[in-house]
Amino acid sequence: MPAVSYPPLPDIRDREDLRLLVDSFYEKVRDDDLLGFIFNDVASIDWDEHLPKMVDFWETIIFGSGAYRGNPLRPHLEVSARTPIGSVQFERWQTLFFATVDSLFVGERAEHIKNAAADMARVMLSRITGEPSGFVFAPDSPRPDT
Ligand code: HEM
Repeated sequence: MPAVSYPPLPDIRDREDLRLLVDSFYEKVRDDDLLGFIFNDVASIDWDEHLPKMVDFWETIIFGSGAYRGNPLRPHLEVSARTPIGSVQFERWQTLFFATVDSLFVGERAEHIKNAAADMARVMLSRITGEPSGFVFAPDSPRPDT
């Protein structure tokens, strides 16, 4: 049988690509054993509101559109007062986010969005737990002991 060859994955090109990324990512999140209940039960997310907001958020980061004007930290602090959100949850969030990006896109913007997500996860986790931000995991590098 001839080997099947697939066309190479594109880089993130526009808002439509970000919509695909966001929809695919939160499909995984809502079914996830660690994260699903935080969105579905603790925060009782209105997905019709949350998903376009997250597309605005990433469009602002990647294309500088300015569509998102909010405070990304605030809801996380509120939710973390009601259920534990720590390095375990953030590590899962990042693993799912990276896997989603890598399943759909390859290129500079794909790398940029993963780096931006990891940076923000690190800062958010440190603000939530009060730990210095250097404490946080990085999936591809060894964990620091301190
Ligand atoms: C364990 C990890 C995380 C959990 C459990 C989580 C959970 C949530 C929840 C429940 C909300 C909605 C709150 C509400 O509307 O009531 C939310 C909003 C949001 N999240 Fe996260 N999140 C996580 C990580 C992240 C990371 C790493 C980023 C950024 C890279 C991020 C960006 C945002 C943004 C931009 C919003 C919308 C904020 C607004 O309302 O303006 N989240 N998140």
